[in-house]
Amino acid sequence: MITLDAIRARHGLPPNAAITEGLDRGLSLPTALYVDPDVLQLEHQKIFDRCWQYACHEDALRNPGDYAVTQAGRTPIIITRDHDGALRGFVNACRHRLHPIATENGNRRMLQCPYHAWTYQLDGQLRSAPRSQREPELDCSAIALEPVSVEPWDQWIFVNPDPHAEPLSAVTAPIRHLTDDLNADLVKYRFSARYEYSMSCNWKVWAENALECYHCPTLHRTSFGKTYKVGPDDYRLESWGDTIWHSSPTKWVPNDVDPATLKGFRFAFLFPGSFCAVDDYVGFAGRVFPTGPETCSAVADMYTNPEGDQEIAEQWLAMWDQTLREDKLATDLQQVGYHSGRIPNARILLESESSLQAFLRRTWTGLTA
Ligand code: FES
Ligand SMILES: [Fe+2]
Repeated sequence: MITLDAIRARHGLPPNAAITEGLDRGLSLPTALYVDPDVLQLEHQKIFDRCWQYACHEDALRNPGDYAVTQAGRTPIIITRDHDGALRGFVNACRHRLHPIATENGNRRMLQCPYHAWTYQLDGQLRSAPRSQREPELDCSAIALEPVSVEPWDQWIFVNPDPHAEPLSAVTAPIRHLTDDLNADLVKYRFSARYEYSMSCNWKVWAENALECYHCPTLHRTSFGKTYKVGPDDYRLESWGDTIWHSSPTKWVPNDVDPATLKGFRFAFLFPGSFCAVDDYVGFAGRVFPTGPETCSAVADMYTNPEGDQEIAEQWLAMWDQTLREDKLATDLQQVGYHSGRIPNARILLESESSLQAFLRRTWTGLTA
């Protein structure tokens, strides 16, 4: 069994209380926790297997028979809209030999595994298996897809691999007064594209980058930092247990638009890796998830405001792609330093990077639970 104590002994880490105290005074978690494969396994067990994560827009599951595929940490997931309207989620692995039930979204009266054609109802119950009548031991009625939890958050569908998860509303309650407005604006936007990025860094390095804008004036000088006000007196950060909020006024828009007439940038983050954001021209929702101890992937479903200037919206989509590529470059390079074994901790600015401290405390709480 993997334990923090075994990981501590391997890397010569301080006791838990010292790590907690380090977080309080602006140190990061020990850098060994950003490279060790056992830490990732522990994070899967204690964090990703138990937390709510972004899956898709509700449009993918509007009609009876709709199904959508996603991933929450290490768990492949299929979500269905049953004929009675219920939203259900399952591990996307056939109970025969674990082939995915589907690899793309679709609509069917029943789910059928493409490998040997085991057929499941939309509530996960196995309905039939070819040649099962020749197998007296095989009781189809006792076999069903493994359930997970599914819930909407406004127009977004979230999943939690834990079938007994606490309600999503319990973790999102502190930030709802902000996201209600964000999502009410974003629900009017039209889907444009899914952006996908593969990083050579630990998932926490990427998430930490997404949770501070201290790097925006330098790394995003010609992208995010040109578009929004990123100075310490303009860029607002707030954090609660599982949720983090960022907002900033727009600084510059082409075509002589007065930025003072715009609502600006708003961003919500749900631990461990889901986010949604909006400004006056574009918005997006997505997630980051580990693909290895020192690799991760991020997806962002991009939307544009049909009532906004479409030329600017196109530029803004490109600006976001540039921003996220710049982030990838930085986080890939950071990982080399984390991997070196020479630096015990990173150092955080407690005012300018306060949400990063909140994220690390929540990660540490999860790991030590
Ligand atoms: S793995 Fe699904 S039917 Fe064989
Ligand atoms: Fe960034």
